[in-house]
Order: sequence, then C-alpha cells, then structure tokens
Amino acid sequence: MTKLGDHLIECIRQDGPLPVSRFMAMALGHPKWGYYTNRDPIGRGGDFITAPEISQMFGELIGLWCAERWQALGAPDPFIFAELGPGRGTLMVDALRAGGALPGFNQAAQIHLVETSPLLRAAQRTALKSRQVNWHDRIADLPPGPTITIANEFFDALPIRQFQRSEAGWHERMVGCKDGRLYLLLTPGAIPAAPLAETIQHAPNGAIVEVSSARTNAMAELAQNLVSHGGVALIIDYGHAASGVGDTLQAIQAHEFVDVLESPGAVDLTAHVDFQALGEAARQAGARTLGPVSQADFLTHLGIATRAEILQRNATDAQAVAVGAALHRLTDRDQMGQLFKVMAVTRCGDDRAPGFVEV
Ligand SMILES: C[S@@+](CC[C@H](N)C(=O)[O-])C[C@H]1O[C@@H](n2cnc3c(N)ncnc32)[C@H](O)[C@@H]1O
Repeated sequence: MTKLGDHLIECIRQDGPLPVSRFMAMALGHPKWGYYTNRDPIGRGGDFITAPEISQMFGELIGLWCAERWQALGAPDPFIFAELGPGRGTLMVDALRAGGALPGFNQAAQIHLVETSPLLRAAQRTALKSRQVNWHDRIADLPPGPTITIANEFFDALPIRQFQRSEAGWHERMVGCKDGRLYLLLTPGAIPAAPLAETIQHAPNGAIVEVSSARTNAMAELAQNLVSHGGVALIIDYGHAASGVGDTLQAIQAHEFVDVLESPGAVDLTAHVDFQALGEAARQAGARTLGPVSQADFLTHLGIATRAEILQRNATDAQAVAVGAALHRLTDRDQMGQLFKVMAVTRCGDDRAPGFVEV
C-alpha cells in the first residue's frame, strides 16, 4: 500500500467510509502524497500521453481556432488566454505559435493558467519562459475580462460521485477498508435520487451512475465569466455526449489500466466526462454550447490532414511516418477520434464556430 493508502485507511478507521469523490480528490490532489503533487505523469516515459504531446498539430489547430474566435469577438486587447490543467504547457506553446499567424493575437494575449500541481507549474514555467504567465489554483481566481479558455483533459481529473441502484433504491458507492485493504461498498440505506439526472432515475438494478458537482461547478464558473465579460471556452475530453449509466472510474499506470484502489496517489485516476451534464451547467449559467462533436470531426474540419501533409513535405522519412501515425492516433475513430469530444461554450448569440459541423 502507498503512504496515501495508509493515510486513507487511518481516516476511514476513524471516520468511516469515504465517498468515491473524496477518495479521488485525495488520490489526485493530496498536498503531500497526491498523484499530481509528486510527479509529471505525461508522456511516453510516464503514465499516459495526451493529444498535445502526441503532435504539435493538435495545439496548432487549437491556437488557430482561438485566434479566429478572438477576431470574431472583436479582437479585444488585452484578453485573458486561460488554460485549465495545462500539463507541461505544450498545448499553450503550440497554440501561441500558430495563433501568432494572426497579427495582434499574441501581443493581446495575457496568459493565465489554472493549475494545482507545483511540479507541472514548474514545467509550464520552463515551456513558456519567453512569456509572462500568471498561475491560479481555481477558475474563480481568474481576473475579470474577455477570456478565451482552453481545457484538454482537465474535467476528467475532477472528482465524481458514484451511485448504484438496488431494489431498495439508490445507494452511494463508498471506499471502505478491511484487513488493511481498500474496497468498494454501498451505503446501507437508500438515498433520495435527487442528485441524479431525471433521465437515469429509472435505470435497472445494479446500474451505476456518475455525478460530479466539481465538474458542473467548474463549468458554471467558466460560463458565468464569459457571459459577464465576453469570450469563449473550448473543452476537449473523453466521455459521452449524453448522460447514461456505467462505471467509468479508471486507473492508469505506465499506459496500462490498473486497479483503482490498489495504489492511491501512485496511479492516475479519471472518469469519463458527461458532456450533457457539462452543457446543462453552462446553459443554466446563461451561456450557449456548441457540440459536443467528435475530436475526429473537429480536427478534420479544421484541416488536420492538410497540416499533416505540409509537415510531411519538409520531413525526413522517419518524421513523415511519425506525423502519419500521430494523425491516425488523434483522428481515427478506434483511437482518440470518437471517444474524445469537443464542446465550445459561448455567449448567447455566438452560435457558430469552426469545427462544429459534422464532416
Ligand atoms: C490529464 S492532465 C492534462 C494536461 C494537459 N492539458 C495536456 O493535455 O497535456 C490534467 C491536468 O490538470 C491538472 N489538474 C488536475 N486537477 C486539477 C484541479 N483540481 N485544478 C487545477 N488543475 C488540475 C493537472 O495537474 C494536469 O496539469
């Protein structure tokens, strides 16, 4: 068991089982033993790889999308260019390089990063060394003003609660401990179904549903910000377009799925993003949403195939093969193309944006 695991067992012995959301929040963000507190997990030598680390094409197309939206917003100068959970800073670096093709965009951009990991903040500082960067712990700390926000694989890292249906009703899934090991159990009494979306209240016995106020609150804050000050947000993550049932909590270590309870703090824990719930949170806050569309459709519409061709023209044979492989990984529907989805959040009235059409 990890140090965090021992600590959690002690907490459970004293205070009883923890909701899955508390377990996930501690496993990822505990100030001493949390997963993101202690490591840079991204990349081939780490636990998982993300789209910006697969290819520069991803960040470049997002940068061009942001620059086009900035122009559509009336080219506010200055504007806040915010990223949520920026990892190593690669997406922001590639986006700024490509967005710089539009005169004035880079100069007007004030970079604000929402990041809790001290280790990844250091990596972002190195990646963005030529720029002035402001860091924040929470979305609520972003300054007021027109804001373009990007978030790739941020929402999947925010904690979820899980509920399971029995004949008696709904129970919350909790993490308990027995014989020095963590295990999942259900609250004994049925709880009111109120926190669950109406459409899934009639799920069959045994069904699991996932709910995340951490995610919907984050989305509501983002949406309120852009309704008040203008702007747009682009959310990319893996998940489902419509709320449904199913256990999607997963743990990854060294690019393999592992047990979710075995090594808290030493493995990545995520759950699929419910885009319907995120969209509803944004719309309730007065914003409009576009999509979600599949990552394949979004990147294809933005011209990823053409960008790949241009890169391949000036590449060695080995580099050209790598560009082709990255294109395949990002857009093939059996790879990241279908599971990953893209949603934009805009002010009411802004109902078009590049990439939000079926290709
Ligand atoms: C899966 S990584 C994605 C990194 C990056 N966006 C990319 O695509 O490579 C999740 C990122 O979110 C950050 N993060 C996780 N939980 C967070 C939280 N509650 N608040 C702010 N950042 C968080 C992590 O430190 C990390 O930078």
